[in-house]
Amino acid sequence: MIDLTIHPERRQRAIQRVRERNIIIPTFNQMMNPDLIPARVKEELSKVGLWDLNPRNLFRISWKNQPKAKGGGFGGLNYLEFPKSLTGTEARIIALVGKWFPTGAHKVGAAFGCLVPRLVTGAFDPTLQKAVWPSTGNFCRGGAYDSALLGCQSIAILPEGMSRERFEWLSKIAGEVIATPGSESNVKEIFDKCKELRQSGQDLMIFNQFEEFGNYLWHYTVTGHAMEDLLQQVMGPKDVYQGMVSATGSAGTIAFGDYMKQLFPASKIGASEALQCPTLLENGFGSHRIEGIGDKHVPWIHNVKNTDVVVAIDDEAVVNLARLFNEEAGRAYLVKKSVPEMTVNQLDLLGFSGISNVLSAIKMAKYYEMGENDIVLTVLTDSMELYGSRLSEMHQESGEYSELDAAAHYARFLQGISTDNMIELSYADRRRVHNLKYYTWVEQQGKTYDEIQSQWYDIGYWVTVQGLVSKIDTLIEAFNAEVGLI
Ligand SMILES: Cc1ncc(COP(=O)(O)O)c(C=O)c1O
Repeated sequence: MIDLTIHPERRQRAIQRVRERNIIIPTFNQMMNPDLIPARVKEELSKVGLWDLNPRNLFRISWKNQPKAKGGGFGGLNYLEFPKSLTGTEARIIALVGKWFPTGAHKVGAAFGCLVPRLVTGAFDPTLQKAVWPSTGNFCRGGAYDSALLGCQSIAILPEGMSRERFEWLSKIAGEVIATPGSESNVKEIFDKCKELRQSGQDLMIFNQFEEFGNYLWHYTVTGHAMEDLLQQVMGPKDVYQGMVSATGSAGTIAFGDYMKQLFPASKIGASEALQCPTLLENGFGSHRIEGIGDKHVPWIHNVKNTDVVVAIDDEAVVNLARLFNEEAGRAYLVKKSVPEMTVNQLDLLGFSGISNVLSAIKMAKYYEMGENDIVLTVLTDSMELYGSRLSEMHQESGEYSELDAAAHYARFLQGISTDNMIELSYADRRRVHNLKYYTWVEQQGKTYDEIQSQWYDIGYWVTVQGLVSKIDTLIEAFNAEVGLI
């Protein structure tokens, strides 16, 4: 799952590198609870920009950053609650905001969860190896960024059809950027590129988010605790946490649902995907425009047996709502429809997959007939800041955005949300989805028959992964102590 075997010589070289670069590695515990961050680090951060390539920004891999571009400390959680005037449901739909992570997206944390255990054990030697970050979007941005902060060289791999902003930024951060054929849902082509790199003779370590349990673990732990804290903050005496939903790209984020279900055993876990690529819903395939949630396979780290609902979202709804939420005429119309201006002004906090997550939450709320005391949680993985070029493209293709457009999109894609394209998974449905893993992971990617069976039949499998976090924190603390900067 996550191999924590120590490689003493390589680890010593990593310690040396980290010391030379003045790096202190935060623990998972500090990411959950910034009160534990040393005052000296906070003082240093008061002069550092959120996206700066400064190693202290490792401590900003947290849901609790002050929403400031520079010099922010740590405050409460960044979240947004969506009113009924927008969602058309009484249920309380609340989302954590990813924009205020360095890189503008929460996957920077998942990448940390993959790289750091390998660094502090010596499995990854930053003096000899390059870290390879395959993804359809933010994971490779996060991976390249974390690598830079941790003194490691990196290669980012992503489909050529992803937004221009991603490529422009990556070219400044990663040692190398490789564009693979296709767009969002062409994950197989990314895997093929990894295979090619593996055979190239270079000394590389591939951090494949779709199979890396560090990704699962970071979200289970850090996003999970943030959601727990969020509930404590927003829940009234009569409120009930009913469940969560997350679009599954690598199925890392959805791991916070596992954490929440342990706290609230009756709660539901929803996995969402694009209707144009309905892999979980009906073993389907296709390309779509919800950037960040590539598909056509079931990620190895998806705990399918614990997933209750699948929701497919039409990408036509997502791209049109992106215009409604960001164009002037769209925002003015929403205000006319009594959406509070404070909410309207923050709708750029939703990137495409964030919009899709909110739509998924609305569908879940409607399916389970939720009322005003029922809470559904989700995440806004990134914000429109990463998709400005897409908005301009849509503006050019479809012309000026008018009030008529806004009215049509509001009526059709928000008020008209129904419970179509969903399934509540029976035991057999879950097994069908889990079984799909076989073709990608056992047949193509070298996983074993025993492990795929173990994921399904061994009750301890996922609990064992979850338990690794305290061991990793101990390893980080020991590593930092030998580096000697704190
Ligand atoms: C923009 C965006 N949305 C959603 C996701 C999906 O999250 P996960 O891979 O944790 O399932 C990603 C993943 O990288 C992403 O970049």
